[in-house]
Amino acid sequence: MDFLEEIERRRTFGIISHPDAGKTTLTEKLLLYGGAIQEAGAVKSNKIKKGATSDFMEIERQRGISVATSVLAFIYKDKKINILDTPGHKDFAEDTFRTLTAVDSVIVVIDVAKGVETQTEKLVEVCRMRKIPIIVFINKLDREGKDAFDLLDEVEQKLGLKVVPLSFPIGMGYDFKGIYNLWDKKLNIFSGDIKQTVSEGIEFTDVNIPELDEIIGESLANTLREEIELIEEVYPKFDLELYLKSDLQPVFFGSALNNFGVKELLDCFIEIAPPPQPKMSNIRMVDSKEKKFTGFVFKIHANMDPKHRDRLAFVKVVSGIFKRNFNYLHVKQGKKMKFSSPNAFFAEKKEIVDESFPGDIVGLHDTGNFKIGDTLTEGEILEFKGVPSFSPEHFRYVNNADPMKSKQLAKGLDQLMDEGVAQLFTLDLNGRKVIGTVGALQFEVIQYRLEHEYGAKCSYDNLNVHKACWVEPEDAYNDEFKEFKRVKQRYLAKDKKGQLVFLADSAFTVQMTQDKYPSVKLHFVSEFK
Ligand code: G4P
Repeated sequence: MDFLEEIERRRTFGIISHPDAGKTTLTEKLLLYGGAIQEAGAVKSNKIKKGATSDFMEIERQRGISVATSVLAFIYKDKKINILDTPGHKDFAEDTFRTLTAVDSVIVVIDVAKGVETQTEKLVEVCRMRKIPIIVFINKLDREGKDAFDLLDEVEQKLGLKVVPLSFPIGMGYDFKGIYNLWDKKLNIFSGDIKQTVSEGIEFTDVNIPELDEIIGESLANTLREEIELIEEVYPKFDLELYLKSDLQPVFFGSALNNFGVKELLDCFIEIAPPPQPKMSNIRMVDSKEKKFTGFVFKIHANMDPKHRDRLAFVKVVSGIFKRNFNYLHVKQGKKMKFSSPNAFFAEKKEIVDESFPGDIVGLHDTGNFKIGDTLTEGEILEFKGVPSFSPEHFRYVNNADPMKSKQLAKGLDQLMDEGVAQLFTLDLNGRKVIGTVGALQFEVIQYRLEHEYGAKCSYDNLNVHKACWVEPEDAYNDEFKEFKRVKQRYLAKDKKGQLVFLADSAFTVQMTQDKYPSVKLHFVSEFK
């Protein structure tokens, strides 16, 4: 297979959902189709169980599992499929946002009974901003849930999508009979007994023929006919170009647990989902078909063994072929590096590989050289854009609780921040350190990991901050900016890259500040240029 064919056959995507909608179950069923696993139950759920806030074993367990399931790859109908795992827990949302910088498309899972939930709204918003093509899978059709048309409306309104159903349920819950697949015009009849087996589906190009009544009964057949007519009137026709531009989102219905509607989803996915896409760098667009290797780090995972403090940096290959033992330029550090044991991921295993293609994820062992967002190239000085930090939601002062271990604390904090566990700000006024996180859980994770991996102890003090706003002065020398800096001195800090940040204590303060100093722009993301 030549280079271009290798690119063309790759599909790198993420599955996103609110916790419990069925992401893990769907992932597992997809792997079953790829023959990557033999039985259900092989993919462990990576979610943190409810109420586990102070259960550190649970956090460690989660970390262990999430290394194993970070990337799940399999081959299906000759396509190489890479699923990038995204944590469902809201406290790890930033991890998910970063992973979305490395996917070429996503599948959104929605629970038929719960409809669109908060976490899904946030994640889909990021996908829309980034114009990532989306397929929606409405799950748990074997249970009583919302009316299918109401749900489609809800998806459009709450997620701001333009949907086109490519399959439609026949009945629901107790009366769930099957699915009519509008994509390839097939009827799949549900039987409670066929769990985990693949049903081929009956060819049914025309729902108006009388045989349909014999199979699903007259009443359901008539309802289905009316519904299909309505779909054809109300919803647009599927248009590949619009889907790829993220202007149209196909919807599938099914039950992941019962393996129903999953094959239809997968068969359509491999046909329509995009192969590795070009990516913007600070100087130019890089096309996946370019011969020279480029890639970027989107995730760093600390090793589970505290004695060997090495980490695994996950690199998405953007262009060219990544080769083992080849010299690559770490652009930010201006340093050549080569990697003797790059890992590739397959099902739930990882193994050393000689070559990886665009769309693939390579795991590189790292002793502290990488930060999230770092770019590797064959020598060209360019950096990929788009791994921004979002404003944290929770802020606390961090104090050294063991004066003998200040070096360890500094190193530990530094490395945990590189991993993206949280963000560190240093106050201009007195040099005090502030940690900002997406969820309260991370403070405990940090404290625990500092102690167990770095032998350092920390304590926290409360701090009233609403949002971190990255400051962009129109003119760094004008009087307005000087005045802003003088008045807000107590609330100004630097982030890890040395960018100026205003720690605002309320939404009102943000508004007031913006009104008073209009030439000083405030941003809630670190990457605004
Ligand atoms: P998540 O990764 O999105 O958090 O969800 P996960 O797949 O873990 O699924 C959450 C729960 O929903 C699980 O039940 C799972 O079995 C169930 N589920 C998933 N798909 C379907 C479906 O199509 N129909 C029905 N009825 N249930 C479904 P659980 O009891 O929380 O966990 P478990 O003990 O079954 O693992």
